[in-house]
Amino acid sequence: MSKRIIWITGGSSGIGFATAKHFLKRNWVVIISSSNLKKLNDAKNKIITNDNIDNLHIIKCDITDKKEVINTISSITNKIGDINIALLNAAAYSPNKNQDFDISNYELLIDVNLKGTLYCIDALKDAMKGKNNTIAIVSSPIGYRGWPTSGAYGMTKAAQLNLSESLFFDFKKIGINFRVVNPGFIDTEATRLNSFKMPFLKSAEFAAEKIFNGLVHKKKFEIYFPFLIVFFVKILRIMPYKLYFYLWKKIGNF
Ligand SMILES: NC(=O)c1ccc[n+]([C@@H]2O[C@H](COP(=O)([O-])OP(=O)(O)OC[C@H]3O[C@@H](n4cnc5c(N)ncnc54)[C@H](OP(=O)(O)O)[C@@H]3O)[C@@H](O)[C@H]2O)c1
Repeated sequence: MSKRIIWITGGSSGIGFATAKHFLKRNWVVIISSSNLKKLNDAKNKIITNDNIDNLHIIKCDITDKKEVINTISSITNKIGDINIALLNAAAYSPNKNQDFDISNYELLIDVNLKGTLYCIDALKDAMKGKNNTIAIVSSPIGYRGWPTSGAYGMTKAAQLNLSESLFFDFKKIGINFRVVNPGFIDTEATRLNSFKMPFLKSAEFAAEKIFNGLVHKKKFEIYFPFLIVFFVKILRIMPYKLYFYLWKKIGNF
């Protein structure tokens, strides 16, 4: 059987890196990319062994650069093989403790999390058409609903979630499975910027195992974990505004 191939954007750290390690251990061919070649080389050095040397590839790809995205995907498909899973995980994160409306923060997150993800999908669409392979976006349960102090990040995650639901239907017609991953709080460089206590915080390795099992062994559209916290946020999603706003007032006087 030919080797299966996964491309992970934002694979130099956090969830993407742990997921790369997990797939590599299970004999997948793994291509990790990110915008920073030094970070990518450091990541590679951490996981490379004599046994997996042929299965691990790094490609510098800033997803906000449309040309670099197109070149990355054609380089993978021409030199390595068809992508079985594209995990669109790269994202920028910037918590806004002061609740200031900072337009440059919105612009950055729109560029990376939205436009960058769209550039990947646009290039993958032609490369993956008709092959019954998978594109999965790593969104967030924060996208279920507007949270205080999370306007910019939350907005991009809500858009990714909505987009995944839409493309689930549209890409089925062109032979591409579309899925979404919604992790709860995971301990990574990004969440270490948070100043609040994160309930049910889990390791990146925990996330990697859930993502692997969800993508490889199950067929559900949404992969979410840990169950309790995400289930709680799912309840917030369907709460009437009056109750939802009241709850936040009680939690943090928002
Ligand atoms: N951690 C959590 O609790 C949590 C919860 C829900 C959802 N998520 C989602 O999970 C994903 C991974 O987050 P994480 O917590 O693992 O964060 P992280 O450790 O900060 O990783 C983010 C990755 O994205 C890459 N990246 C950033 N800008 C990029 C760009 N322009 N082009 C290409 N790559 C870029 C970064 O690498 P470079 O700097 O080298 O480019 C890095 O590899 C994100 O989509 C995040 O929204 C995380």
